Amino acid sequence: MFALTTTTMASHTVTAAHLAGHIPPGMKVTEAATFPLAFVTVHHSLTDRAGLQAGETVLVHGGAGGIGLAVLQHAQHVGAQVIATAGTPAKRRLLRHLDTDHVLDSRSLDFAEQVLHLTAGEGVDVIVNSLTGEAASRSLELLRPGGRFIELGKRDLQANNRLLLKPLLDNRSHLAVDVNQLITGPADRMRRLTEDITRHIHPGVYRPLLHSIHPAARLQEAFTLAQHFRGIGKVVLSFEEHPPIRPAPAPLQLDPHGTYLITGGLGGLGAATARHLATLGARHLTLVGRRGGSTPEAAALLADLRDQGVAVNVHAADVTDPEALRELIDSAPVPLRGVIHAAMELSDVLLRDSTDATFSAALGAKAQGAHLLNALTRNHDLDLFVLYRSISSLLGLPGQTNYNAANLYTEALARSRRRHGLPGLAVGWGPISETGYAARTYTEEYLGRQISA
Ligand SMILES: NC(=O)c1ccc[n+]([C@@H]2O[C@H](COP(=O)([O-])OP(=O)(O)OC[C@H]3O[C@@H](n4cnc5c(N)ncnc54)[C@H](OP(=O)(O)O)[C@@H]3O)[C@@H](O)[C@H]2O)c1
Repeated sequence: MFALTTTTMASHTVTAAHLAGHIPPGMKVTEAATFPLAFVTVHHSLTDRAGLQAGETVLVHGGAGGIGLAVLQHAQHVGAQVIATAGTPAKRRLLRHLDTDHVLDSRSLDFAEQVLHLTAGEGVDVIVNSLTGEAASRSLELLRPGGRFIELGKRDLQANNRLLLKPLLDNRSHLAVDVNQLITGPADRMRRLTEDITRHIHPGVYRPLLHSIHPAARLQEAFTLAQHFRGIGKVVLSFEEHPPIRPAPAPLQLDPHGTYLITGGLGGLGAATARHLATLGARHLTLVGRRGGSTPEAAALLADLRDQGVAVNVHAADVTDPEALRELIDSAPVPLRGVIHAAMELSDVLLRDSTDATFSAALGAKAQGAHLLNALTRNHDLDLFVLYRSISSLLGLPGQTNYNAANLYTEALARSRRRHGLPGLAVGWGPISETGYAARTYTEEYLGRQISA
């Protein structure tokens, strides 16, 4: 079968019958996998929406991609001419080899003049577009009267970008096609589409698109290829080769005779970490925060830990103070085995309003603290050196430049430690709704939106 489904990265899946069609005997599943998305898009766009006719001309950008190659098959079947653009000489050679009527370079905006030249100044009847910005508006101007512009890209639509309407004079249409909406929309429409496509597959009108096959175990290589549009046609994941089976890692066992130091360990995520380390076997914890035992959450935490037989040393100290840090590391009753650095201070401010003080505040606890912990524990035989960082340094949240800088420092430090054969892990947390700064500061509804985003 070929099928559309929302869980395609799997060896087995369940989908509605109206989203699946039979493939001819002997066809490989890796070939069939090239059909659904590309041909549902193209068949719906060119048959139901644009009504491409024999003798008409269609312009498709990215002609060597899955959509482009499907447009070529469909247009050749109905007897329409194809002008395709592609970004590399190899892709353009391939399109010529597949008897594309005209092949142009998609990397230059000259394609518009070339299309006009090829069509004696008249333009084309149908455009299948996935370009954005200037290239998209140049394309729209290439429609001849009665022409249909099919928008497959979502970026301009989602950004609510403006469209100049003059190019739509003389019965030209602008049509947006979104396959996801087709899949989740009325079953009857999709059933008819799937049946139409199956009818075109069996006599060989629609043939498997060119594709490269990647074993599921090398998923990353497949994604990289798809992400950079380097490939030709479709990128197919195959489950025929079994992924290597690795033994599950043994559950982490902490040393009951070692000390684990948690900065920021008396509240928020640090306190949750202290509880977790206790369940993993830690029996000696050193917890530090500037407020020490007077941190609001400390009393309940310490009572819980002591109930579990964990000996806890509580320090009121600033992790940016090397002497205080040295003292508390040296005072560990049993050898130090692990460090978890959760201390942080936020000093959110827009970059234009930033001062030395706002930067120092955010860099202090997190980055300078990490630097000192690294330097002061070099002579200790550690099993763990974990730095808590935030996903915000990947997303670049506004007002958090200083925090992001501190987070990136922790990541670089973890990498540098690993290069030197030392334990080092920077954990990039997303917003946490149960405990810590975000839980204290934001509403559940806001956090829910952030977490799902
Ligand atoms: N909560 C989240 O949603 C979230 C998301 C992503 C990443 N993270 C990361 O997780 C870690 C913990 O966050 P959290 O939400 O648990 O924060 P939190 O509840 O605000 O706790 C931070 C702790 O750090 C201590 N601290 C701050 N400056 C210090 C300093 N100079 N010296 C010693 N201790 C200091 C604070 O205690 P005192 O004020 O008493 O010093 C406080 O207990 C942070 O590294 C953060 O970047 C959290």
